[in-house]
Amino acid sequence: MTMDYFRAVKERRSIRSFSADPVPRATVMRLVEAAAMAPSAGNVQPWHFYVVEDARLKRELAIAALNQLWLARAPVVIVVCADLARSQRAYGERGRTLYAFQDTAAATQNILLGATALGLAACWVGAFNEKMVAAALAIDDPAMVPVAMVPLGHPAGREAQVPARRAVEDIVTIIAEGGR
Ligand SMILES: Cc1cc2nc3c(=O)[nH]c(=O)nc-3n(C[C@H](O)[C@H](O)[C@H](O)COP(=O)(O)O)c2cc1C
Repeated sequence: MTMDYFRAVKERRSIRSFSADPVPRATVMRLVEAAAMAPSAGNVQPWHFYVVEDARLKRELAIAALNQLWLARAPVVIVVCADLARSQRAYGERGRTLYAFQDTAAATQNILLGATALGLAACWVGAFNEKMVAAALAIDDPAMVPVAMVPLGHPAGREAQVPARRAVEDIVTIIAEGGR
């Protein structure tokens, strides 16, 4: 099952409860492929994705995520890492401090929208101790930085309310022709 882009954008929600049903490895890889289709500065693709299925390791990740233990109940957790050295080699300071994070954020969003299109549950988790996550994954390269975790599964429930968005009028400035 897939859905139209605007419907996926609208229907994507952070879902934090998962059924016990597994997510096939091929489906996870499809989402990683979607992540890899994201734009990146100079097409540098400064990312690496850990696909964690191991229960003990998922628990370590949940503890590293300031005890967000619900995360360990997802059948799979994708950890998105930014390769700062790769971005720095291409773009110096701007690559290391900005592009590496923008590129991996775009990749993360592709995973979330892909999960929505497939009827799966996911959530962007950014609150974690990155040193603990790196240690759990045995990452010894200090330039390989975990930037997001995406627990993935089948939805067991939805938040009762759709988190409100700020009004478009409040977030847009239109500068029409001759407007300055
Ligand atoms: C950078 C970032 C970090 C986030 N970190 C967490 C997190 O650690 N735990 C969590 O439950 N949700 C986290 N979220 C999800 C947000 O809470 C959620 O996107 C927001 O409340 C809007 O809800 P929605 O995703 O359902 O539209 C994060 C989202 C982003 C973009």
